[in-house]
This record gives sequence, structure tokens and C-alpha cells, in this order.
Amino acid sequence: MVPAPFEVLAKRQDSYDVWTLELRALGGEPFEFTPGQFTMLAARGAGEVPISISGDPARPEMLVHTVRAVGLATEAICAAQPGEVLSVRGPFGTGWPVDSAEGADVLIVAGGIGLPPLRPAILSLIARRERYGRIVVLYGGRAPDQLLFTDEYDAWREQGVEVFVTVDSAGPTWLGHVGVVTRLLRLAKLRTGALVGMSCGPEVMMRFVTAALLDEGMRPDRMYVSMERNMQCGIGHCGHCQLGPTLVCRDGAVYRWSEVERWLAIREL
Ligand SMILES: Cc1cc2nc3c(=O)[nH]c(=O)nc-3n(C[C@H](O)[C@H](O)[C@H](O)COP(=O)(O)OP(=O)(O)OC[C@H]3O[C@@H](n4cnc5c(N)ncnc54)[C@H](O)[C@@H]3O)c2cc1C
Ligand code: FES
Repeated sequence: MVPAPFEVLAKRQDSYDVWTLELRALGGEPFEFTPGQFTMLAARGAGEVPISISGDPARPEMLVHTVRAVGLATEAICAAQPGEVLSVRGPFGTGWPVDSAEGADVLIVAGGIGLPPLRPAILSLIARRERYGRIVVLYGGRAPDQLLFTDEYDAWREQGVEVFVTVDSAGPTWLGHVGVVTRLLRLAKLRTGALVGMSCGPEVMMRFVTAALLDEGMRPDRMYVSMERNMQCGIGHCGHCQLGPTLVCRDGAVYRWSEVERWLAIREL
């Protein structure tokens, strides 16, 4: 529950409103986490918000967060400069099924700011590449200049990951795919019977991707999605993040599709 002070060591601007911050505990303690977990992160006086960890689980000395500035708290976090101190609680939540997917083909589908929460899973899968069948990453963004971690796709490909990228719209200099991320499913030619899926992005994207996969015969209990709800305590006490009978901070943010499908129709208040 007690926030710990973390120093901003480095900062990178990824797109016009997204920044990646590398943080280290002031005491130097490592920050162990599971891919898919999040922290409650705050800049002084600006409120605390849930942010997924986007760093490498094999490098616990460095806590990495990738944040889109959308409001008071996230703007203050993104404005923090190297040397400044942010407060961190966590890690919280469940993780992606990286261990239980061993032996299976793995499909990662991300939209926009949904890639950072999946990056620790991608890095963990790569670290144990020989334990999985195909590893396929499908990533969609609004425009080329809003794609995240673009400098890593080739390295992922060299490690045996199939990476497909698309944008909603692009100018003449973009030579890649144009269209929604579900279009990439056809290109990937997946064997849905052997597949474990992990998806993070807008709910509408996760809904269409999952519907397409289920149509092709994928089992709903092998599809995992990350849910976003407003949070305050992060530890299952306040009830702010309720999703049906579950609390996203405690029982999620990663859920099996079969657990949350019926609650997605209910809008957050
Ligand atoms: C488990 C979990 C993990 C998350 N991981 C990340 C992450 O890795 N990176 C990240 O950038 N964000 C992440 N988020 C979302 C982040 O917590 C919110 O963007 C943040 O709480 C907004 O707070 P604020 O005070 O900055 O904005 P507010 O003042 O609360 O909102 C300002 C305006 O932005 C809108 N808004 C709020 N949230 C979003 C959003 N997510 N996208 C677009 N518009 C929004 C609001 O409707 C409002 O109009 C995560 C959320 C959850 C629940
Ligand atoms: S944020 Fe308080 S119960 Fe989840």
C-alpha cells in the first residue's frame, strides 16, 4: 500500500503524446514483476493512475512504463524529467499466460497503447523461444508516427517472432499494411486449434479479433485480454474497478475471454 520513491533515469518520446520512462527505486532494490502486471504510478500532487509495466522482466533493476498523456495524472507523469522522483505502488494484477502457453502457438494482438503491456510477454517468450511453436505479433496503430517500439520489430523477427504491422491511415511514404488489425489475421494463417491468444487495446478491437478467432475454431478459454477500468486503491478494497463480479485490480487486468465476455456489454460509469 505504501508508495515507494522511484527516480526517473531516462525518458524517451515515442509519439506526440506517448513517453517511455525508465525508473529505478531510490534504494536500488530490484522490482520483480510478471508480464501483464501494472503499478499505481504518480507524479507529485497529480493523482495516482494504473500503468502497465512495459519493461523486460529479466531486468528487474529497471522499471519501465510507457504512458499516453490523456489527462491530469498522465500529463504530469509524462512531464517528469530525469532526476525527478515518481511514486510507485505494486506490482498489481494478474499476468499473461506465458508459462501455461508452453508448447502452443502464441498470438499477440495489440492496438495502439496496447503494445507496451504486451512487450514484457513478447520479451519473455523470446527468452524461452524454443518452448513455443509459432509466435505471431499483430500490431495496429492509427498512423505510422503513432506506432510504438518500432526500433524493436526487426530484432523480434531475428529471434523467430513473426511481426505484422498495420495502420488505419498513412501517407505515400508508408509501404506497409493499411487497415484494421483484424485484417492481419488472414495474413498470419493461424492454426487456431493450437493457439493461445493475448490481446490488449481498445475493447472494440479485442471484441472483433476474438470473434474472428472463435469463428475459426479457437477455444474462448485460450484467449486472454487485458481490461481497463478506473482504479483508486489497486488492491481490491475500494470497488472502483468492478467488472461484473470481479475487481480488475485484483482479478485482472488480464482475464480469459470466457470470464469477461458477458460483462463487456455493460458500460463503465
Ligand atoms: C490495468 C491498467 C493498465 C493501464 N496501462 C496503461 C499504460 O501502460 N499506459 C497508459 O498510457 N495508460 C494505461 N492505462 C490507462 C491509464 O490508467 C489512464 O489513461 C489514466 O488513468 C488516465 O488518468 P488521467 O488523470 O491522466 O486522465 P483523466 O483526467 O482521468 O482523463 C482525461 C480524459 O482522458 C480520457 N481518458 C482516460 N483514460 C483514457 C485512455 N486510457 N485512453 C484515452 N482517453 C482516456 C478521459 O475519458 C478524460 O476525457 C491503464 C489502465 C489500467 C486500468
Ligand atoms: S481499484 Fe480499488 S478495488 Fe480495484
